[in-house]
Amino acid sequence: MKKLVVLSGAGMSQESGIATFRDSDGLWENYDINDVATPEAWERNQSLVLHFYNERRKQLLDVEPNKGHLIIAELEKYFDVDIITQNVDDLHERAGSTNVLHLHGELLKSRSTKNPNLIYDIQGSELNLGDLCELGSQLRPHIVWFGEAVPAMEEAVEIVRKADILLVIGTSLNVYPAAGLMNYTHNSCKKYLIDPGDVSQRYFNDVEIIREKAGRGMEILIEKLKNNLK
Ligand code: OAD
Repeated sequence: MKKLVVLSGAGMSQESGIATFRDSDGLWENYDINDVATPEAWERNQSLVLHFYNERRKQLLDVEPNKGHLIIAELEKYFDVDIITQNVDDLHERAGSTNVLHLHGELLKSRSTKNPNLIYDIQGSELNLGDLCELGSQLRPHIVWFGEAVPAMEEAVEIVRKADILLVIGTSLNVYPAAGLMNYTHNSCKKYLIDPGDVSQRYFNDVEIIREKAGRGMEILIEKLKNNLK
C-alpha cells in the first residue's frame, strides 16, 4: 500500500462548526491569542487560560466530525494513512482515523506543570485551578502554545519523508515549524492541497490545488485517488 500523509489544520474542522484562527481578524473565538495561548498568558492569568480551554472543550463535545474527516478515515481502505494535524480536537479520531499525530497537543488532555511527560485524560470538560498532577503541581492544558517547542516535530518529519502522497488540507501554512514539513517530501511524492481560500502564497512545488472546502474537496480527491489505483 502507498503511504498517504495528511497534514491538516483548522479549516479541516470548520464545517464541523469550529472557527479557524486566521479567518477571524486576529481574535480566536473572541479572545486575543496572546491572552490565552502563550506561556506568558499562563503566567499572568491561569484561570483565564483554563476558562478559555474549558469553553473550547465544551464546544468540542457538541460538534461532530464532518464529511471531510469521514472521507479521510475511509482512505485507510486504500492507503497506509498517517495524519499529522495541527488541530487540538479529536475529530479525526472520532471519524475513525487510526494514526493521528497531534503536533499542537490535544484539548481533551492535561499535563503536569512540573513534569511534561505526565499527561492525563481530562474527565468531563473542565480543568480548574487546584486540579493537580500526581506530583502535586497544577495541571495545564496539553496544548503547544505560541513560543513553545513542538515535541512531535521530529516524528512528523520522519512520517513526511516516507510519503508517496501528501495532502495538505485546511491550513494557512503560517505557523512554523509545522509549515516547514512540506520541505521533507521526496522528489516523487505527489502533493495535493485542499483549501477554499487564496492559496497563491502557499504554493509549494508540484502541488495540485483543489480550491474547495474540506468536505467537497475530499469528495473530489478520493475519486481521483481511486481512479489512479485502477
Ligand atoms: P489557520 O486559521 O491559519 O488557517 C485555516 C485555513 O483553512 C485557511 O487557509 C482557510 O482558507 C482554510 N479554510 C477555511 N475554511 C475551510 C474549510 N471549510 N475547508 C478547508 N479549509 C478551510 O489555521 P492553521 O493553519 O491550522 O496553533 O493554523 C495553524 C496554527 O496556528 C494552529 O494550530 C494554532 C494557530 O493559531 C496553536 O494553537 C499552537
